[in-house]
Amino acid sequence: MEGEPVQFLWRRYEERLEPSRFELAKFIGARPRDVVFVTNATTAINAVIRSLNLRRGDELLTTNHDYNACHNVLLEITRRAGAKLVVARVPFPLKHPDEVIDSILKLVTRRARLAMIDHVTSDTAVIFPIAQLIRELEARGVQTLIDGAHAPGMLPLSLRKLRPCYYTGNLHKWVCAPKGAAFLWAREDKQADLQPAVISHGNNRPRRGYTAFQDRFDWAGTFDPSAWFCVGEAIRWMGKLLPGGWPELTERNHSLTVQARRILCERLQVSPPCLESMLGSMATIPLPERFQGRPRTGRIDSEQLRLYDKFRIEVPFNRVGKPEKRWFRISAQIYNLLSEYESLAEALKLV
Ligand SMILES: Cc1ncc(COP(=O)(O)O)c(C=O)c1O
Repeated sequence: MEGEPVQFLWRRYEERLEPSRFELAKFIGARPRDVVFVTNATTAINAVIRSLNLRRGDELLTTNHDYNACHNVLLEITRRAGAKLVVARVPFPLKHPDEVIDSILKLVTRRARLAMIDHVTSDTAVIFPIAQLIRELEARGVQTLIDGAHAPGMLPLSLRKLRPCYYTGNLHKWVCAPKGAAFLWAREDKQADLQPAVISHGNNRPRRGYTAFQDRFDWAGTFDPSAWFCVGEAIRWMGKLLPGGWPELTERNHSLTVQARRILCERLQVSPPCLESMLGSMATIPLPERFQGRPRTGRIDSEQLRLYDKFRIEVPFNRVGKPEKRWFRISAQIYNLLSEYESLAEALKLV
């Protein structure tokens, strides 16, 4: 890129972008024409919500399990429009996926324009039943925006079958593409009204062979597109790590998560907050009683800092629920071993 910037960023840009988009589309069960790259899920959520043209009195729906940055987008845009943000209270611990569906559907009114639903929640690490939610919400005239930041590479995806209005996923998490690689998929009937978070040349520079949707999103001002160009290779490379390809990789990560959670819950004498079938390759686990009720000490809890400094274990701590409870979240990728979670159980006794 630095050696021949015009060649890399301009003359031969599509030559590198298209194979990557093609591989990604195959991976997420979509047509390449419906998929664009963005730098991250936050950017995609901004694009969708800022394109809505909300009116006073309109409602946007989300849940209390949503991701703070995305929640802020909904808050700001509803505030500006005089619209209302309706937050469904999904319990945690969760006994059954039906609790997610019920708590969301009971808040749908005739004024609901769009619901933002996480595919895999961030703090609580549960898989939401999005297929049923998309069907039920769309049947009630509510547009669906799925925040799948954690889903690609953790769960199999077929957007052709799911058909929400919009779906975004990060590729810099479970697909292991470089940071700055994510996508936005939009159903064909929603593409005309969709503008990127950063408007650039595409609005009046159509390219032969591309949709207007792709023209608008494919260039967001000068930046390093290497992460986007690498996505196809990341998908192929990860898919070759095990003989059974991606299905074996995701199944391995899921079963390691389940085993790790069992061990940790047993050693720490805490109860798992959801069914194993609601887990992908992350799990949120309650911290033992002696950690509870301690006030925040800074942006990162002191015990999390000590886990890293003393034991080189990186594991996020968070606070969820009312009354607030403290939890930690584990993840399992191909490079993790069960023994690492056993070490975590021991280390948690010492921090
Ligand atoms: C559910 C969810 N949405 C959105 C994001 C934001 O992703 P990014 O920072 O890549 O935009 C995350 C990140 O962890 C997430 O878990």
